[in-house]
Amino acid sequence: MGLEHGKISGDRRQYDGGSLHEDSLPRAPKELFEEWLSRAFEEDLRDPNAMVLSTVDGRGAPSSRVVLAKAVDDRGIVFYTNYDSRKANEIEHNRRVALLFHWRELDRVVRIEGRATRVSGEEADAYFYSRPPGSNVGAMVSPQSRVIASREELLGQVNELAARVEAGEAEVVRPDNWGGYLVVPAVVEFWQGRADRLHDRIRYRRDGEDWIIDRLAP
Ligand SMILES: Cc1cc2nc3c(=O)[nH]c(=O)nc-3n(C[C@H](O)[C@H](O)[C@H](O)COP(=O)(O)O)c2cc1C
Repeated sequence: MGLEHGKISGDRRQYDGGSLHEDSLPRAPKELFEEWLSRAFEEDLRDPNAMVLSTVDGRGAPSSRVVLAKAVDDRGIVFYTNYDSRKANEIEHNRRVALLFHWRELDRVVRIEGRATRVSGEEADAYFYSRPPGSNVGAMVSPQSRVIASREELLGQVNELAARVEAGEAEVVRPDNWGGYLVVPAVVEFWQGRADRLHDRIRYRRDGEDWIIDRLAP
């Protein structure tokens, strides 16, 4: 397989990592999602909780980036970021987002569509103060998504703050512009790669307290 004269060839492998059967599906997607995510952790995949987050700007133009899911519970999925970043600005303008997990070694994809809202300051604090101080100093200093003069300048600011923290002259505190978003899913699709491109696709759509389950053509 490779890239030759602008064409990618030799990628016609078979997919067969499992299957999805209607009779064994849970009524809500959370259970199946947790099962798949746990499996990805068990397989020791790199960043199993990494997901592509897509947002749209005021003109409807989409953009995507990778973030880490940090909580998965009855409410939905939580990730943490800078509230002044491009993604956060877009979310504040339009709460509708899409998430995508791709566990390639398992031939599995989960696509989620939903709405993102900020988590409480208390919840953000709980996560922030559980992190190593090193990552927090970076979060305090880096003006995520902004143009900066140079890497050296950023590193200089990080090192300066780290030194002040070390000397007891400054504290590591969660900046007001750093926190989490909770994505509440409205649609969740599970994609399981199968032989001959006849993949399984099961889509859950929220319907009040319940979920409507459909099988989609691959
Ligand atoms: C594996 C991986 C995990 C990442 N996790 C996060 C994260 O949890 N939060 C975050 O803000 N950025 C994370 N990033 C960086 C983002 O992909 C992105 O560069 C950054 O958030 C700026 O995006 P924006 O300018 O669209 O807002 C991660 C990148 C990678 C590759």
